[in-house]
Amino acid sequence: MDPVHNPFAPGAGCSPPELAGRSAILRDVGIRLKRLRLGRPAKSVMLVGLRGVGKTVLLDQIRRDAESTGIHTVRIEAPEHRSLPALLAPSLRLALLHLSKKESARDHAIRGLRALAGFVSKLKVTFADIEVGLDYDPEPGLADNGDLEGDLTTLLQQVGEAARAAGTAVVLFIDELQYVEEPQMAALISALHRCSQDRLPVTVVGAGLPQLRGRMGEAKSYAERLFDFPEIGPLNPTDASDAIVRPIRNEGADIEGNAVSAILDRTQGYPYFLQEWGKHAWDIAAESPIREQDVLSASDEAVAALDESFFRVRFDRLTPTEKKYLRAMAELGPGPHRSGDIAEQLQRSVNSLGPARASLIAKGMIWSPTHGDTAFTVPLFDQFLKRIMPQETGR
Ligand SMILES: Nc1ncnc2c1ncn2[C@@H]1O[C@H](COP(=O)(O)OP(=O)(O)O)[C@@H](O)[C@H]1O
Ligand SMILES: [Mg+2]
Repeated sequence: MDPVHNPFAPGAGCSPPELAGRSAILRDVGIRLKRLRLGRPAKSVMLVGLRGVGKTVLLDQIRRDAESTGIHTVRIEAPEHRSLPALLAPSLRLALLHLSKKESARDHAIRGLRALAGFVSKLKVTFADIEVGLDYDPEPGLADNGDLEGDLTTLLQQVGEAARAAGTAVVLFIDELQYVEEPQMAALISALHRCSQDRLPVTVVGAGLPQLRGRMGEAKSYAERLFDFPEIGPLNPTDASDAIVRPIRNEGADIEGNAVSAILDRTQGYPYFLQEWGKHAWDIAAESPIREQDVLSASDEAVAALDESFFRVRFDRLTPTEKKYLRAMAELGPGPHRSGDIAEQLQRSVNSLGPARASLIAKGMIWSPTHGDTAFTVPLFDQFLKRIMPQETGR
């Protein structure tokens, strides 16, 4: 069918034609943010889940919904190897400049910009990657101790005061939060804890791989009192079917029931896979309705496209040892697997494999659901590894 009108949108962070199965969580987080704005107690959320389940697009939708109610939002992605202060400084500056335009908040916002100047001047020594324009001179003693935890707390408090004076809230949306280093994560949690105790309308809504929950708990044991960690997973069959059928019907075309079933079978309801199969089934079908045979013919191309984009992201950056470790896991099946079993598969000791395992966790390739267990952070990753490394070379 006409590729120009193909509605599907495979790709990291690409907004889907139908955001299926997420209305309950959108409603829930919407309520929390409205409560925050009113100074009522409200836990924020950290969306956790495997790659490709739709955390980024969900975070974006929560943000758009919040913006539409007049909440001021900031969108940040935490890449590997960037410091949190470097990410926060320019975003907080924009938020403060925006708040300073409102008469009722002007003085608070300007004090916030002075706090930012103090924050940056001292922390630049430790975090050389901070780059931000400064609009006001620092106020001596305000957020300029040079200690991240204390200074970030003061800075966020100023942002919260300004937001309250403006009758709004400031919400920072931070994606890939698992990459923030532990001391910086601890500082962020501690600063947000203070703001929450003061009932200030400032918070973070985050998203990250499943290891995020444990990382935050290790950084500050009370993280679970500040945040809920809803698990974002594959779509159930009804929602997955909506994700496929609705966009097709919106284009005035149709798809047969057993073709939908074939897509659900192959994708197991994972959003990224649904978009990829939907796209290729549409392109291959000669005419509407899309039939089961179209889906079957499209599978090779869908898998090839996933191998080149989705699965390969970050894989090429791994060391040979790390790849071998993953391949041994794949040999054992989808997982999770016991560390002992993986070591046995590689004919190595568990201890000698510790560094490889730790660096794979830091790189976001695997995580540990329970002590001693190891699982992939990418769904169906075992099958990908077997496709691109047909021979297990671990022995
Ligand atoms: N609820 C959903 N319904 C249908 N497609 C979705 C949904 N959520 C995400 N997608 C699609 O899945 C893919 C991955 O989404 P993304 O937000 O990048 O995942 P993550 O951030 O969890 O890795 C994108 O192509 C997106 O369009
Ligand atoms: Mg993402």
